[in-house]
Amino acid sequence: MKNNSFTVAVLGAGNIGSSVIERLLKLDNEIINLNLSKVLVSDKSKNRGFDKGLLTTDFNEILNDEKIDLVIEVLGGVEPGKDYIKALLENGKSVITANKDIIADCGSELIQIAQENNVCLYFEAAVAAGIPVLKPLIESLRGEELKRVAGIINGTSNYILTAMEEGSTYEDALQQAQELGYAEPDPTNDVEGIDAKFKAMILSLLCFGVSPSVDDVFTDGISNITKEDFDWAKRLNKTIKLVSQIDNGDDGFNARVYPVLVDSKHPLASIRGALNAVLVEGENINQLVFSGPGAGAAPTASAIIGDVLSACHQMVSSQTNWYPLRTLKSGNKEFKDVQSSWFIRLSVKDEPGVLATIAGIFGENNVSIESVIQEGRGDNAELVLVTHEAEENNLTSSIESISDLSSVSLVTSNIRVFI
Ligand SMILES: NC(=O)c1ccc[n+]([C@@H]2O[C@H](COP(=O)([O-])OP(=O)(O)OC[C@H]3O[C@@H](n4cnc5c(N)ncnc54)[C@H](OP(=O)(O)O)[C@@H]3O)[C@@H](O)[C@H]2O)c1
Repeated sequence: MKNNSFTVAVLGAGNIGSSVIERLLKLDNEIINLNLSKVLVSDKSKNRGFDKGLLTTDFNEILNDEKIDLVIEVLGGVEPGKDYIKALLENGKSVITANKDIIADCGSELIQIAQENNVCLYFEAAVAAGIPVLKPLIESLRGEELKRVAGIINGTSNYILTAMEEGSTYEDALQQAQELGYAEPDPTNDVEGIDAKFKAMILSLLCFGVSPSVDDVFTDGISNITKEDFDWAKRLNKTIKLVSQIDNGDDGFNARVYPVLVDSKHPLASIRGALNAVLVEGENINQLVFSGPGAGAAPTASAIIGDVLSACHQMVSSQTNWYPLRTLKSGNKEFKDVQSSWFIRLSVKDEPGVLATIAGIFGENNVSIESVIQEGRGDNAELVLVTHEAEENNLTSSIESISDLSSVSLVTSNIRVFI
């Protein structure tokens, strides 16, 4: 750093990296002057649309260059990025990353390394890309004891669910998402909730000071949701969303990801297509909703450039310290103890006493029923039940016993209801 001039390097020049580089080369900031000095790639021969003289395939050229103050990591995957970020922080360089996999894996360790070395580490783009949500959570809401955070933080699955709400089957909606570039050829990470889980792990760290492990976060995706579920949701004035839900009530902390029925008037129901939203609840703020583009090169680059400028301002004033992470006041709550309300569809034989037997099983498991609708007669009747809130444990045991009944041919679906 010289006066307000900073030397920057970028690791990666793919989808996000090329957009970041384009922004850096054009950036006109009245206060901070940025000089892009090196870009790490794996193949120097590709045509990139910027000066090839910036390219290197040797990470050590960046790590050991004393002139470089700040490095932007946009390689993707956990390795080698994780080792690179550690080495850079330990070598006194500030780091900005968009990498949710790395921050979910070892965010608190990296924050500590940054603090010990008096450098900045920011990752605004890692959770909701273009939506500024981490900085408000860390800084603006620092005085607030947060109770609950619920996010639609995977644009691909939200695109698919929105198309299903409009009448597509799951298969058609996925194909549309792939054709438009919203879904990868292998969509597993997005549709099975894995991407949303990593983001929930980062939000857990920043909102509640907890680093749950991958196994601690119950995760269910959207690949079993059907058009018929949407038809039923509509009849109940609801829609279906994949939600990452983190709460920290008096009974403890829990983070989970699953599809839920959301009331059509709820703010999360209006988040459509590839958009994302993060809803935050606290005692004094009641409810805040941050929404916008949660993916894409330009919005992601915008968050990265914002982080770069913040880090530079902090370096100018030698205030690179993070706010201390929040500490969890209550303990952890296991998923089996979480209270949920369920929407359940059953294919049943319409025989006398079926409903009474099913109600009896729920009763034995301390689950009470809010509403029941029966459609059809004979061997192909359908029962649709919505339960009141009950422990996951008790709901799961009820469904196991109900599916064993000879009068129940199939538990067609069971989806939680967002409360
Ligand atoms: N896509 C989004 O909307 C979005 C939103 C938020 C966050 N992110 C995050 O942004 C990051 C980057 O994603 P992306 O889509 O830009 O990835 P990408 O298109 O695959 O680009 C990766 C870049 O890294 C380079 N690279 C990869 N491994 C390398 C290695 N071992 N050594 C040197 N260079 C290496 C590649 O070099 P070559 O060009 O030579 O192959 C390429 O330039 C990911 O962590 C992603 O999760 C993405």
